Amino acid sequence: MRKRKMTTLYLMTGVLVLSLLIGLLVHYQLSVEETASKEPVVQEKEPEKEEVQKENQEEKEDEPEEEETEQQEQENTVIDDPVEEEPVDQEPVQKVPVYTPPTLSGEFSDPYSLLVVANKKYALDYYFEPTDLRVVNATGNRTHYLRDCAASALESMFAAAAQEGITLVTCSSYRSASYQASLYNNYVAMYGTATADTISARPGYSDHQTGLAADIGDHDQATVFTQAMEYTVEGQWLYAHAHEYGFILRYPKGKEWITGYSFEPWHYRYVGVDYATAIYNVSPDCTLEEYFGIEGGDYAY
Ligand code: DAL
Ligand code: ZN
Repeated sequence: MRKRKMTTLYLMTGVLVLSLLIGLLVHYQLSVEETASKEPVVQEKEPEKEEVQKENQEEKEDEPEEEETEQQEQENTVIDDPVEEEPVDQEPVQKVPVYTPPTLSGEFSDPYSLLVVANKKYALDYYFEPTDLRVVNATGNRTHYLRDCAASALESMFAAAAQEGITLVTCSSYRSASYQASLYNNYVAMYGTATADTISARPGYSDHQTGLAADIGDHDQATVFTQAMEYTVEGQWLYAHAHEYGFILRYPKGKEWITGYSFEPWHYRYVGVDYATAIYNVSPDCTLEEYFGIEGGDYAY
């Protein structure tokens, strides 16, 4: 009986010890897992990340200074040592006026059109010279050239005037831009630019370069190139009949603000009988600019 009691006691003690051991083992396992789940390593690493970010930020803050330094270096390079290749991109020195006149569309800008416009707003090509110029077979103070159609019309007109006992004289006709330049420069020398611009076109801007314009004088050329020609029989005949032959008075009295020039009772421009008659029927003083709604007036520069 006593032996059985002792065996039971041993057994219970063994179970107790075993339970204790298992308990200790479980506790240890839990401790290890708990330690792992807290990730103390990451928490320790976070300050390192901040440090890295801080360092990056400091680097970024430094960058602009580095760029400025590069810019300054570039500027210094240009200033101190102009690069030889640079002139390739540079604008050439302007030897002509900066202003480039606009061009009109269609028949007003076609130099061979009878309606071509040369005024202070619209220039011709400086080198334009009509290919159909010919000598005018009519009274003139020298040999004159006009485009074939204008020459024929002028010859008819002079013949018609002569039928009425009126002698007309051609005093100026086609003028190249270089010849116009010499005339204009003479006027500038005599009267100054402001006055010269009211009586003479700058080269490239003259109606005479079209080969369709003529300065027509009275029989003894006493009044040609003066406004007194308005009152001569020749001036009055032209004013009343020129349109019948296709010519219009190009610079009428009172239209200086449109044409850009003083009244010139001697300057007639060939546009063809139909247009000349239509323009004349609006008014003998109607200008090419008014009839077609084309800008005139002064130079744009
Ligand atoms: N006298 C006119 C305007 C010219 O020079 O063309
Ligand atoms: Zn003229």
